[in-house]
Amino acid sequence: MKEQLDGLLQAALKEIDGAGNEEALQELRIKYLGKKGELTAVMKGLGSLSATERPVVGQMANAVKDQLESRLEEKLTQVRDANKREKLQRERLDVTLPGRRLPYGSKHPITLVIEEISEIFAGLGFQVAEGPEVELDFYNFEALNFPKDHPARDMQDTFFVDDSILLRTHTSPVQVRTMLKHAPPVRIISPGTVYRCDSDATHSPMFHQIEGFMVDTGVTFGDLKGVLTTFLTQYFGKGIGVRLRPSFFPFTEPSAEVDIACVMCRGKGCRVCKQSGWLEILGAGMIDPEVYRHVGYDPETISGFAFGMGIERVAMLKYGIGDLRLFFDNDVRFLQQF
Ligand code: DAH
Repeated sequence: MKEQLDGLLQAALKEIDGAGNEEALQELRIKYLGKKGELTAVMKGLGSLSATERPVVGQMANAVKDQLESRLEEKLTQVRDANKREKLQRERLDVTLPGRRLPYGSKHPITLVIEEISEIFAGLGFQVAEGPEVELDFYNFEALNFPKDHPARDMQDTFFVDDSILLRTHTSPVQVRTMLKHAPPVRIISPGTVYRCDSDATHSPMFHQIEGFMVDTGVTFGDLKGVLTTFLTQYFGKGIGVRLRPSFFPFTEPSAEVDIACVMCRGKGCRVCKQSGWLEILGAGMIDPEVYRHVGYDPETISGFAFGMGIERVAMLKYGIGDLRLFFDNDVRFLQQF
């Protein structure tokens, strides 16, 4: 019996030493110490021994059991430690590796143009004001001297919400909103989104404008020309040619179209300026007395000028972009160039 126990102990210890992982050790525990385990079987057989043998063999069996248990425990700790070490080795952090950069976003070219233009006008004493994109007919047309059924309304193909509410077709209604709230002098620049029922390579149903106006006592057409020339020179570069042509807008009198010398050919004539050497860049004029009447200003004592330009058009000329739709496709290959 003693030999049997000894043999069992030696065999078990050998197996335990050879076990390489937790599962193998668990299996060995069951094999020897489990309910149907080999040592358990021996213990169960104690009953058939004589009264003198039983305590001796029983003691031996217990000693074997203790030894197996402590060896199993020891080996288990060893295996776990080794696992942990191996894992640490595998997953070791290298804190000297450079971090992963998040891809940077950049400002949309339309935003850039708005910011740059606003900054130039801030230098000339203009403040920024904004107005709603869903606008009343009154501010968008009526108060700007576009009477109902007047053909001038046809110049701006309008999205109507109902008879009196529409998507603003230009930023000019901010003139009316500002003047109704503030007495002169006012000097305002107003960038924003506008809408017209129009869509091709040079027109989008949603686009952006910047409106500007200045009202005070004694503002003249000379001031208009001076401010716009200063702005255009700062934005497009020194020496850019500027010219004004007579035009018509219901809310200005007199009105002008303002051209700059073609930024591509500098006035020589090319495809972009259609050989004319000039590019139309904004509309402008002296604010019509009719507008002052709608906002409660006295046309006898004050005067002022206004101008408006399309931001996409300015951006296309500034950055040499051929198709307006690129601004709204949101293709990062386009956007990341700015
Ligand atoms: N609101 C005009 C348009 O969208 C542009 C414009 C022309 C604005 C002349 C002005 C101006 O303030 O004086 O067609």
